[in-house]
Amino acid sequence: SFITRILSGTALALSLGTVALPASAAEYRIAVGDGAGGTQEALGKAFVAALEEKTGGQMTGKLFLNGQLGDEQDTVTAAATGTLDFSILAINNITPFSPTVGTLTLPYVILSQEDAEKVTQGEIGQQMIAQTVEDAGVRIIGWAYSGFRVLTNSKKPIATVADLQGVVVRVPKNEIMIETYKSWGINPTPMAWGETFAALQQKVVDGQDNPYMTVNSMKFYEVQKYVTDLRYLFSIEPLIISEALFQSLSPEEQQQVLEAGQEATQASAQFLRDQESKIKEELVGRGMEITEPADDEKEFIELATTKVWPKFYDQIGGKEVLDGVLTSLGRDPA
Ligand code: MLT
Repeated sequence: SFITRILSGTALALSLGTVALPASAAEYRIAVGDGAGGTQEALGKAFVAALEEKTGGQMTGKLFLNGQLGDEQDTVTAAATGTLDFSILAINNITPFSPTVGTLTLPYVILSQEDAEKVTQGEIGQQMIAQTVEDAGVRIIGWAYSGFRVLTNSKKPIATVADLQGVVVRVPKNEIMIETYKSWGINPTPMAWGETFAALQQKVVDGQDNPYMTVNSMKFYEVQKYVTDLRYLFSIEPLIISEALFQSLSPEEQQQVLEAGQEATQASAQFLRDQESKIKEELVGRGMEITEPADDEKEFIELATTKVWPKFYDQIGGKEVLDGVLTSLGRDPA
């Protein structure tokens, strides 16, 4: 209602210490897949603050954490049909709707936070944004960076591909990630994000992978003990806006939304740099045990790159798309 809108707008301005919101302020709903304390929330908060600041309080947003507005993949459909305004979710949950962004989900392509920032904020990022608008009806306007997806499990320390055998691992419903685990010799269990905690708790699955930041914000340390420091996938988590909503805005408003997204992206990159090692230590303090992959991860890398990459050349738009990304990162083509 009108009253709730003003009240929640005021509460938000107070909590963020930003501009006072006029009664006419438009408050948008922003779905967030993860819980409090992670990079998704950090991106969302920075975006709302920047949006209020740029629009003099005419536009604001309210974050709904923990998948309250639906599972990550469902929020893409909701935003595309215009029933949801914004969503912050892992890139791997957009791939099923826009296969080109799969290039960013291919194992061992992004090898550092610098790589992630370079690809998403450069020309390749712009091409992917345009393609996602076309394929999925959503526009990426900001990026959260969450770090490498480390493998957690409740059974045993895993250092080698051999150790992984017999461990039941949940993965998102993402073909590339499914094939990556297959290249390592196991059949993973594809499952929606919202069901993952309960499945770990009830031991329907033994493990999963997600960045340290997410393991922490989702309290996975309560149900997982062992961590393997895999680096196969650097998690990139875009902020998307419904393209229908974006097109309904004036050119000036569109500009404000885009600039707020850019500012939030920078804030997210800084958040990861400041927080990741701290969070990792906290998780060890909570009893998690970290294992480094044997032999600098060589076996994992060789299997994944040789078996998985070629399977997805067609889907991502050709081998040249991957080569373009690798070259832009100063690496040899595939
Ligand atoms: C997933 O595993 O489905 C995603 O990484 C969830 C997330 O957004 O953190």
